[in-house]
Amino acid sequence: MPVSVRFDDPYFSIADGLAETRHVFLAGNGLPGRFVPGFHIAELGFGTGLNLLATLIAWRAAGVPGPLRFTSFEAFPMAPEAMDRALRAFPEARAVADPLIAAWAEGARRIETDDLHAEIVEGDARETLPRWPGRADAWFLDGFSPAKNPELWSPELMAEVARHTAPNGTAATYTAAGFVRRGLTEAGFEVTRQPGFGRKRHMTTARLR
Ligand SMILES: C[S@@+](CC[C@H](N)C(=O)[O-])C[C@H]1O[C@@H](n2cnc3c(N)ncnc32)[C@H](O)[C@@H]1O
Repeated sequence: MPVSVRFDDPYFSIADGLAETRHVFLAGNGLPGRFVPGFHIAELGFGTGLNLLATLIAWRAAGVPGPLRFTSFEAFPMAPEAMDRALRAFPEARAVADPLIAAWAEGARRIETDDLHAEIVEGDARETLPRWPGRADAWFLDGFSPAKNPELWSPELMAEVARHTAPNGTAATYTAAGFVRRGLTEAGFEVTRQPGFGRKRHMTTARLR
C-alpha cells in the first residue's frame, strides 16, 4: 500500500485501487463506452501508473483500433522500484506494466507501443498544464486528498482543465469536496454528484457545457 510521505496520503483506495480506478475514473467518464480511435485521456497525478494500466486493459478489451493516447501531469515521479512494488499488489495491472516500468527505469517519460502513446509531463501541473498544447476527451482528476494537496484542485487549475478539454469532454474524480465542485462549475463544467467507491459516499463527474 504506497503512502506518500510528502503528502501523508495513500496513492489509491485502501479497499482496492484497481476497482476504484474502474469505478471512479473509467465509469465516471463513461468509459469504455466512449472509446473511439484517437481518444485522449489526461490525468492530474500519475503516481504509480495504475490508472494508466487499468485504462490500457479496458482499451484492449474494447478492441479499439490504434493507440490509446494518455497524458499525465506529475510533479514528484516515483522511484521505479517503488512503482514496481506498488503495482505488484495488482497482478492484472502488473501483467501489462513492463513497457512502463522499463521506460521509467531509464528516466523516459514517453511510452510508445502499438496500442499506447503515453506521455508523463514532469513538473508542477500549475506550471505545466497552462503550457500544454493538447485537449483531452476525458480527465482523471487524481491529486491527493483536497485537504492535503489543495494546489492540485484550485479553481485556477480547474479552469486550465476546462481550457484543455475537447468539446463534449468530461472529467471525473473520487472527491466530492465543495470547493472542487465549485471550481469545476465556475470553469464551465456541468457537475454531478455520484455514488463514490468503497467508504466514500460521493464522487464527482463533470461534462463541459
Ligand atoms: C493520488 S496520487 C495519484 C495516483 C495515480 N493516479 C495512480 O494511478 O497511482 C496523486 C499524485 O499527484 C502528484 N502531485 C501532487 N501535487 C502535484 C502538483 N502540484 N503537480 C503535479 N502532480 C502533483 C503526487 O506526486 C502524486 O503522484
